[in-house]
Amino acid sequence: MRAHIITFGCQMNEYDSHLVASELVSLGWELVDSVEEADFVLVNTCAVRGKPVEKVRSLLGQLRKEKERRGLLIGLMGCLAQLDEGQQMARKFGVDILLGPGALTSLPEALKANEKFWDLTFREDVLDYIPPPPKGALSAHVTIIRGCNHHCTYCIVPTTRGPEVSRHPDLILKEIEMLKKAGVVEITLLGQNVNSYGKDQPGFPSFAELLRMVGGMGIPRVRFLTSHPVNFTDDIIEAIAETPAITRYIHLPVQSGSDRVLRRMAREYRRAHYLERIRKIREALPDVVLSTDIIVGFPGETEEDFQETLSLYDEVGYDQAYMFIYSPRPGTPAYKHFQDLPREVKVERLQRLIEKQKEWSYRRNLEWVGKKVEVLVRGVAKEEGYVQGHDRGNHPVLIPAHQAPTPGLYQVEIKQATPHLLFGEVVGATVPGPIPLPVA
Ligand code: 5AD
Ligand code: SF4
Repeated sequence: MRAHIITFGCQMNEYDSHLVASELVSLGWELVDSVEEADFVLVNTCAVRGKPVEKVRSLLGQLRKEKERRGLLIGLMGCLAQLDEGQQMARKFGVDILLGPGALTSLPEALKANEKFWDLTFREDVLDYIPPPPKGALSAHVTIIRGCNHHCTYCIVPTTRGPEVSRHPDLILKEIEMLKKAGVVEITLLGQNVNSYGKDQPGFPSFAELLRMVGGMGIPRVRFLTSHPVNFTDDIIEAIAETPAITRYIHLPVQSGSDRVLRRMAREYRRAHYLERIRKIREALPDVVLSTDIIVGFPGETEEDFQETLSLYDEVGYDQAYMFIYSPRPGTPAYKHFQDLPREVKVERLQRLIEKQKEWSYRRNLEWVGKKVEVLVRGVAKEEGYVQGHDRGNHPVLIPAHQAPTPGLYQVEIKQATPHLLFGEVVGATVPGPIPLPVA
């Protein structure tokens, strides 16, 4: 029997897809790369904005046709599956198996059941499951905490993923040890809010303590995603500064630069607090690379509010930003209580913000020209004749292919920068990886 998994959304979803893929393999399934070859298609969904939801709707339409034509088992998992919106779609398009983000370990049972199987519970054993290392990977994700205890008014995640539950540190360390043995050189610790790690379980280490533990395991690079400005405390900054394995890349979503908007978003901090965190981070980590998430056109956002976001951007001078147009999500407080702004206003503000982001990214990228960085080369680039990797600041770096013939860690001198990319030349290899590159 052959299965194909299609993944939308964030790194948490990528991790979860890997988790269910390894469940399937242990049950004797073969994983295939296309719908056409598969007897079972499992769609891992994202519900954070309207766009990924619409993509799933049209995909389910195609899968239903395929099912009518030749018989096919269809599964829906992830955030959308947890919501009424997803369940209505599942009924309409003949989905057989529906698993919420907390029910992934019900998959074996679901496949045994000869009828529709829906599970929306939050099972404790989801946290216990240790997926085997992804084959040949140099970089891997490890979930350390699931769920979110914040209640940002625009966000559906607290509904879909439930409250914060930290994974036992023994399981995290065991999983990382296995990844290290398999040749992984970069670990990303994952959670909707990693900074809160351990708070829900008495006796667990704090996030800062966990960072020091993982940083001491001999993995060359340790990163983490995502942080919250309220929970990004001084002990975390100190742990990063004192642990060389932890990369100097911090993603700290700000969402807006206006206090009025932050209040309506229920972000629990104000602009001054956020800027103070950034000041502290820069003071302790002078070479830090900073990125953020920003929502433009939140309900009630005025031109003055938006100007505050632009001026905050200038004050921080982000290296990178992920910018989103506000998308009203059914089930969120903002959807219920606030009026969405006209689309033209949101699109026009996004364009201005993208201009700002490009200027800053170019400026920041230029600062790296002439410097030596360590690049984790992962494969051939879209640009002909180049391989692509990323440095410890998460910048994408292109290198002439003949200089880095195998994936792995290389010492690279940056020669050139664009707003989106750094170009470099290899000056030395540290840990060449085990997998040969596909011929370019
Ligand atoms: N509309 C637009 N962006 C959103 N995000 C979360 N919910 C919404 C929404 N309703 C963004 C936030 C968050 C990122 C993962 O997605 O910026 O940090
Ligand atoms: Fe959503 Fe806010 Fe939690 Fe992030 S911190 S997952 S934006 S509720």
